[in-house]
Amino acid sequence: MAAASPMPLAELHLHIEGTLEPELIFALAERNGIELPYANLDELRSRYEFTDLQSFLDLYYANMAVLRTEQDFADMTRAYLARAAAAGVRHAEIMMDPQAHLSRGVSLETCVNGVASVLATSEEEFGVSTLLIAAFLRDLSEDSALEVLEGLLAMNAPIAGIGLDSAEVGNPPSKFTRLFARAGEAGLRKIAHAGEEGPPSYIVEALDVLAVERIDHGIRCMEDPELVERLVNDRVPLTVCPLSNVRLRAVDMLAAHPLPAMLAAGLNVSVNSDDPAYFGGYVDSNFAQLESVLGLSEFDRVRLAANSIRSSFASEERKQELLAELSG
Ligand code: HPA
Ligand code: ZN
Repeated sequence: MAAASPMPLAELHLHIEGTLEPELIFALAERNGIELPYANLDELRSRYEFTDLQSFLDLYYANMAVLRTEQDFADMTRAYLARAAAAGVRHAEIMMDPQAHLSRGVSLETCVNGVASVLATSEEEFGVSTLLIAAFLRDLSEDSALEVLEGLLAMNAPIAGIGLDSAEVGNPPSKFTRLFARAGEAGLRKIAHAGEEGPPSYIVEALDVLAVERIDHGIRCMEDPELVERLVNDRVPLTVCPLSNVRLRAVDMLAAHPLPAMLAAGLNVSVNSDDPAYFGGYVDSNFAQLESVLGLSEFDRVRLAANSIRSSFASEERKQELLAELSG
């Protein structure tokens, strides 16, 4: 008997550099003549023990050293799409971190074109419609972000929006007021990581100061009942990443994850994989572990998938197509 086809959904919180699997790191290092500081795969894998967001970011940025050519970015993107399609992902909004490549001497053209060349045909090749989002590193300056955004606009990069990621605490959304205003003027969609490690007030700032349409993570909203009420009333999408939260110790264990309470509160939450090569699984593994540990019901699974589709920046037509698939 054929395996049941996975539930169709949209993945809204995914860093393409976080899909770089250990095997591909070794293959690209070999192709590019780069010496890795690990003797073998097991030694690399032994580093995937994180104590907080920063301990992950250190390895995430270090491993990017193997990405040198357009082909490298294209290979990484193709590998993600194949894996995501198998997990049921039918629409993906993919973040990339251009500044993490520019700082290593890799041009905007190389990194953007390498990813975008694969996204351009993702629907035909993988059945996954895609959008690209340029994420900015909040531990760097706003001037750096503005310069890179201007570069992306000047090259007519096929980006649908901008995001804000990297080390959150001490780098509040208000640091990027001009960046988000400029993105708005350019007609770009706006999202930001907030309330992963940072306080609920960062979520409020992202909404009020940056006018973002979606919050990445947002789990710490649960500490502020007034904020929860606002997020529920305004149907603000929160792209939750359960396995990421456990691996980065934002929550103690999956059994203690706030997702059930967030669903019960009526928040517009979806389930996403964030950096699946680092956090122990793609979106299907996130769902499987939620089901086994938290007893997530079929009703909640379908609700989470519908939320992901409705909260995406896909066309109305594509959303209706995927919602029909989900209910069919
Ligand atoms: N949080 C912040 N920055 C990131 C993440 C994350 O989960 N993944 C990649 N960059
Ligand atoms: Zn993230």
